[in-house]
Amino acid sequence: MERENDFMADKYKEQAVIIRQEEIATDVYSMWLYVEQIASVARAGQFVSVYCNEGSRLLPRPISLCEIDKEDHSIRLVYRVAGKGTEEFSGMRTGMPLNLVGPLGNGFPKKQGKSLLIGGGIGIPPILQLAKELGESEKQILLGYRNKETFLEEEFQKQGEVYIATEDGSVGTRGNVLDIIHKKGLEAERIYACGPMPMLRALKQYAKEHQMECWISLEERMACGIGACLGCVCRSIEKDAHTNVNNKRVCTEGPVFLAEEVDI
Ligand code: FES
Repeated sequence: MERENDFMADKYKEQAVIIRQEEIATDVYSMWLYVEQIASVARAGQFVSVYCNEGSRLLPRPISLCEIDKEDHSIRLVYRVAGKGTEEFSGMRTGMPLNLVGPLGNGFPKKQGKSLLIGGGIGIPPILQLAKELGESEKQILLGYRNKETFLEEEFQKQGEVYIATEDGSVGTRGNVLDIIHKKGLEAERIYACGPMPMLRALKQYAKEHQMECWISLEERMACGIGACLGCVCRSIEKDAHTNVNNKRVCTEGPVFLAEEVDI
């Protein structure tokens, strides 16, 4: 286990050990990892870069933290198989090692007051740790899935009031998370969201119209996750202090941004 000197403080390169792994929906896997240092400093909205053991795949896969258990020094990653790297992870078993760098990114700011916590598709997992960290503060949780193959629903039920939307209407409200807000007449001071870009755009617009604070995680935009490829750049309203252009790297300055600060 060694400290990554060229990264900011509180980031570690660490060999994790798989505690257990299971498929919780088609192609969606839940993996608990024993990873002492990373678990001790991580917070909701951050992610880890996971390295493949297969040498030909050098770039790590960024995966957000779904749960952090500081007492047991473990983290939970819930990810969708979307290529060779994640396919390799999905085939791994209890006791196998996995190299990680993290925790990376800024994480969600935790604020008092009534919040809507919104996750769509594979953007749902990081919202679970956020719900846990917000504890007793007033919150309603909105989850959007494609169909009745929902996941993490039980865990969310323990954290607050949960509303589900499915595209095909098989569970909960037919449509998307905004349809829930409209149909149930939900109101709050703030939105925290992670999910596909069209969902985030719609929430940004909704928050603007209703003068709500809106924090969005742009993790969908990440590639290398370590600041090297520039594949994650998004347009920002303010100029970057170093480059003097309106760009931000999602993996290093984000992935969580105030919606009004980024052009999405
Ligand atoms: Fe490669 Fe951000 S994902 S620089």
